[in-house]
Amino acid sequence: MDQTVHRPDRLTGHLAVPGDKSVSHRSLILNAIGKGSATVTGVSDGADVKSTAACLRAMGVNIEPLDEPGSFRVDGLGPDLNEPADTLDAGNSGTSMRLLSGLLASQGFLSVLSGDGSLRSRPMGRIVQPLQQMGASVMGRNGDTLAPLAIRGGSLRSIEYEMPVASAQVKSCLMLAGLSAVGPTVLHQPALSRDHTERMMSAMGARVEAEGLTLTLHPAELRAADVAVPGDISSAAFWMVAGLIHPNARVTITGVGLNPSRAGIIDALRMMGAGDSLQLENERVEGGEPVADVVASSANLKGIDLGGEIIPIMIDELPVLAVAACFAEGETTIRDAAELRVKESDRIATTVSELTRLGGKLEPRDDGMVIHGTGRLTGADVESHGDHRLAMSMAVAGLAASGETVIHGAEDASVSYPTFWEHLTSLTSGE
Ligand code: S3P
Repeated sequence: MDQTVHRPDRLTGHLAVPGDKSVSHRSLILNAIGKGSATVTGVSDGADVKSTAACLRAMGVNIEPLDEPGSFRVDGLGPDLNEPADTLDAGNSGTSMRLLSGLLASQGFLSVLSGDGSLRSRPMGRIVQPLQQMGASVMGRNGDTLAPLAIRGGSLRSIEYEMPVASAQVKSCLMLAGLSAVGPTVLHQPALSRDHTERMMSAMGARVEAEGLTLTLHPAELRAADVAVPGDISSAAFWMVAGLIHPNARVTITGVGLNPSRAGIIDALRMMGAGDSLQLENERVEGGEPVADVVASSANLKGIDLGGEIIPIMIDELPVLAVAACFAEGETTIRDAAELRVKESDRIATTVSELTRLGGKLEPRDDGMVIHGTGRLTGADVESHGDHRLAMSMAVAGLAASGETVIHGAEDASVSYPTFWEHLTSLTSGE
């Protein structure tokens, strides 16, 4: 599907983004193995979370939609799920595949996990190797590094593991496996990554100790717990940047989750000089997570140097930050972000190539990119490369570019944000 985007005279309105994708996956997975039933609300309606729900249902978990959209009752089966009759399809979702692998490693049955072409090309050795160290029987293509993964679950021993990458998916996979291992699982992280699993497992009765970057998880049987999923900051980021770079804008995004392990984009935009043009209103705590309404209006941004610890806490927002950098004055450097190469697309290559088509001045680096801000982009045809965040980042670029931007593969947005194009229309028509 193609979508055409123009720069509107004004960009204005209020909207609520879908529920946080990471929290949504975890609310279903952890409650599936919990004792008792729980109500989860505000669950993302994106294709990724639907993949997780379908996999869990295939293992006998009852996930019942309630009247309110995004609300479900999950009837936990406790630690033992049922053998699925077929391959489990994680679709485009790295989170589904990596977290479910951790869960499946201890189940007393055989399972096979697969996904779409993008997911089958993403690195799985990072979970297979430590799971094998725990005694799990996990096999994959290409020397156990690529899906499909075949898992014959069994009893696990705990490990102390030096994580080579700051990945919440790897951490969460090993924590899920660690729940039923013999002895405590100790994970040394190279940097902080999103901590939703730690928070939710603790709320469900597990003992999770964090000391600096070291996590210790003690084996536990979880009890089901209600979860109110906050709005997804990764989705809100598109409108934050759109509001800041459009010359006549005021956009309010309500109920955005601002967990500090996710909120790096706010800090980065402030470093770029967003100042009073990026306001947090109604700051509150909902379901144990900090939440606020975010108001973004037109600003003059400047280039920054971005690297180190902030990268994992805004990893999914880097493509749209690159859009902001094109409209900023001066040079922006993104470093320490080689992980971008193994996302739904190689986001260093695809962000650079598509923004270049719009007249941006960017240079790829092995671990990031350099963006020479020119304050303008010019509409052109661009591709999503099968990557939801790239499709939406290009739409944001198109909202501030001169002329017409045509996004091919626009339907990919539905992986995390099915109503993205409707929301874009509502902001451009001033509704
Ligand atoms: C996610 C973690 C991140 C992120 C992904 C969702 C999660 O991946 O890019 O969109 O829910 O744990 P990594 O932890 O592998 O960097």
